[in-house]
Amino acid sequence: MNKKKSIISVSFLSADQGMLKEELESVGTADYFHVDVMDGRFVPRKTYCPEDIISLELTVPLDVHLMVDKPENMIDDWLRTGPSIVVFHYEATTKHKEIIAMLHKQEVKAGISVKPGTPAKVLFPFLATIDLVLVMTVEPGAAGQSFMPEMLEKVRGLRKAGFKGIIEVDGGITLENQKKAKLAGADMFVSASFIFKHKDRKAIIRQMQEV
Ligand code: DX5
Ligand code: ZN
Repeated sequence: MNKKKSIISVSFLSADQGMLKEELESVGTADYFHVDVMDGRFVPRKTYCPEDIISLELTVPLDVHLMVDKPENMIDDWLRTGPSIVVFHYEATTKHKEIIAMLHKQEVKAGISVKPGTPAKVLFPFLATIDLVLVMTVEPGAAGQSFMPEMLEKVRGLRKAGFKGIIEVDGGITLENQKKAKLAGADMFVSASFIFKHKDRKAIIRQMQEV
């Protein structure tokens, strides 16, 4: 059987931020680094600015998750980090089409994310133009929360609607939850705490890539 490998995007939100360079080295075999950008408005916390990420000189492709209000005002700044994928929240803007066009103009994959309370059907008008949907499996804002299995209904619904792009799931992903999400139709998996709590992080990433 020719099974597609899982795409693993490591979020470094639960890494030791004081020694981020070393921490990132320990997960350097990930397919992507997932940058959790928070603005203190869309979610209570504030995290990275583009300069923080540029200064890390990362060689792993970047999957930028914008948990910010009015992401349209920040796209140009984040494009300076050279991302492969930029994901913004459906709930945070009315300028979905414009943002998708801004990203595609720079040949960056465009993704839209939905919070747990937002139904997947709001994305149906965009499915033909976006490259990726990010289904949040926890409330955005913090690492280390418990996976919400009922969110997998959204993944199934998107596949049923004919979406052929990447479906990424984010929040509370462990090896067990990853398997369930993959069966539902997801192909890309974000993980922070589960990976960083392991001593041999490269080994657990390899195992997740094989799911
Ligand atoms: C939550 C972030 C997630 C988070 C995942 O707001 O979007 O990317 O870092 O962390 P874990 O894997 O610990 O749930
Ligand atoms: Zn995230």
